[in-house]
Amino acid sequence: MRMRLLLIFFFVLIVCLGLTVYGKKEIAPHLHEYWPYDQGLIVKSVPHPKGTEYVSFGSYGSETDWNDPTHILPLDYHQADGKRIFYQQCVWCHSDTTPAGPSNRSNVTPTPPLMNDGTLLNGVSDADLQQVIALGGAATGKSAMMPPYGKSLTPDEIYDVVAYTRAIASPAYSRPSHWSWASWEHGAAKK
Ligand code: HEC
Repeated sequence: MRMRLLLIFFFVLIVCLGLTVYGKKEIAPHLHEYWPYDQGLIVKSVPHPKGTEYVSFGSYGSETDWNDPTHILPLDYHQADGKRIFYQQCVWCHSDTTPAGPSNRSNVTPTPPLMNDGTLLNGVSDADLQQVIALGGAATGKSAMMPPYGKSLTPDEIYDVVAYTRAIASPAYSRPSHWSWASWEHGAAKK
């Protein structure tokens, strides 16, 4: 008699334990119904106002297209570093009042080209751009109003500011067909 009671007790105990485990399994996989899927995510892609275009803020930075405020240009590492240098050193002469804020460009003679002036700068090679930035206008047959930066910026920084210039170019810059990362990194860029 006692034995049978004990068996019943264990049977009920095991059924209860089993139900508890089963119940837990039922609840656990449904937690996402109570919390958003992307909870805690910081880097997200956001819908862009222009049609189906998406901009990933997982890139190093971005720049608003100088001619079209609804158009955001994603910047890679070098381009984003070039943007920093541009806004520290060049913006005063090479940008109009937008989007950078007050500019002294209209007071400079000759008027410096806008840094996004693809019509002019797309036709100048990477090497020549680096040359004029490093040596300044006076040493390269242009106006001395363009200062030399070879002593204040490293070759890598000059390389980055050219990468930024290419990224914001309007009309867009397309690299020459013989262009390669190897030649860019070790050739023109390091001159
Ligand atoms: C004090 C004003 C001033 C500043 C600051 C300045 N520039 Fe210039 N820049 C000029 C002027 C003026 C010209 C036009 C020279 C000419 O056409 O004779 C020029 C021309 C240029 C050109 C055109 C070269 C070509 O082939 O036509 C490039 C590229 C350039 N600058 C890059 C830069 C960069 C990059 C910086 C910042 C690191 C910078 N400039 C800062 C005044 C400036």
